[in-house]
Amino acid sequence: MKLHIDSRRRLGRRNPLIYGHFIEHFHRQIYGGVFDPGNPLAGKDGFRGDVIKALRRIKAPILRWPGGCFASAYHWMNGVGPQRVPAFDKAWRVEEPNTFGTGEYIAFCRQVGCEPYICANAGSGSAEEMSDWVEYCNLETQGPFAKRRAAHGSAEPYRVRYWSIGNENYLGGEIGAKSPEEWGRLVAEASKMMKRADPSIELSAAAVGDLEWNINLLRSAGERLSWLSLHQYWDGLWQKNDYADYEACMAYTNTLGTQVKKVRGLLTAMGLEKQIRIAFDEWNLRGWHHPSLQSVDPAEYLKTRDLNDENRRYTMADAVFAGCFLNMCLRNCDLVGMANFAPSVNTRGCIFTHPEGIVLRSTYHVFDLYVNELGETVLDTYAEEQPRLRFRGKEGKAVEAAGLDVIATVDMKEEVVVAAVNKDPRNMHKLEFEWFGASMPWRYTIRTLMGKDTESYNDIDHNDAVPGAPIVSNYSPVTAIVLPPHSVNIIRFMNQ
Ligand code: AHR
Repeated sequence: MKLHIDSRRRLGRRNPLIYGHFIEHFHRQIYGGVFDPGNPLAGKDGFRGDVIKALRRIKAPILRWPGGCFASAYHWMNGVGPQRVPAFDKAWRVEEPNTFGTGEYIAFCRQVGCEPYICANAGSGSAEEMSDWVEYCNLETQGPFAKRRAAHGSAEPYRVRYWSIGNENYLGGEIGAKSPEEWGRLVAEASKMMKRADPSIELSAAAVGDLEWNINLLRSAGERLSWLSLHQYWDGLWQKNDYADYEACMAYTNTLGTQVKKVRGLLTAMGLEKQIRIAFDEWNLRGWHHPSLQSVDPAEYLKTRDLNDENRRYTMADAVFAGCFLNMCLRNCDLVGMANFAPSVNTRGCIFTHPEGIVLRSTYHVFDLYVNELGETVLDTYAEEQPRLRFRGKEGKAVEAAGLDVIATVDMKEEVVVAAVNKDPRNMHKLEFEWFGASMPWRYTIRTLMGKDTESYNDIDHNDAVPGAPIVSNYSPVTAIVLPPHSVNIIRFMNQ
């Protein structure tokens, strides 16, 4: 493939929030994950220091919490102040101790150095309960909730800028599922009250690729929204833990941008494309496994959740897919302003915790490469001779997809940095460049994450899916850069 690069053709600056994260009160994401009091690796506040260090290394910009489905039945007042009220979590059918609540979440975000992003309860909750939470977090002293926060030890407001109204209220299984009309009305009232509490907040609301849902939402509350929240998991493992193999995962890359394309069209048609951006605030190749939610025996539905924690499942398929997803966000940097890996710690996360430490799964290293190596400005490039490959989908049908997924950026030093993903499970592919408008580079470095094969993964006792060190080479107009099979590559071009 040959990529035409003209550093004058700029799509825009990527918002760092596209490298965002998400943790939910589900299984071991909070308790035993980020919050592990009594573990020697936890600080006095109970937060795992190794997890904080790992999130800081990938400059986690924002952290969405407390859910997810959990949020739709969560009453925030149970999780603040000296007397925490244990509650039965009807989303996941476990007792929530509420020892990790708003104050702990804010303290955790501050230690990570990221923005908080709270998903408020539009399921069993009300517009008033959601806006009272804004008062508790963001008002100085006015009203009972700000005073309560101060009495709980935080005289200074938390200043939470990002708020989401609801989770997936369009799904029948969500607590407090709504019709499109009901959703429009609730978001209209909730957004009104939350903005009255603090007009400076940025509001998102649960949306989908569905036209009727979004039209109702935007007509009823669009004027007060800054974001539309989209979710997607491609390998649906909620009931059956039958993982898609490498080829099937590559077949899924054909639908990476489908929802974004639909929502872009609708926002443009409604004249909202300059006011509202997309927060893809739950994404992961793999859906979480949590079957038998209705089973009477807790052992039955709780035990199955441990299957999410098998590190061997998170291979180069997950890493290659993650590179393609982040490339999609960069390509749509004018509209996709936030994305949150779902989740970030345990379950299908990029960080796995165990009593003696953590495992950085293959997807963690994709974030490390993209966050720490790619430039801030995305270039509008043109590719010729893109190899087209056929992958066998999960249902056995052959799917044709692009073999390479390549994005070019320019960093603050005006150096061109390219992220090049080779989806091919068996063959390397060559990448050539044609340069316009910029002086021809004469050196480049390449860092490659490829594992030993498509099934490589990281675990407590081994790391088979980690990036290599940068390799420096001279560059000439006839240079063809080799992209190994099943690899995510960062190529930096230098002019001196
Ligand atoms: O499977 C986990 C769930 O996926 C999250 O709680 C929800 O937001 C999404 O449907």
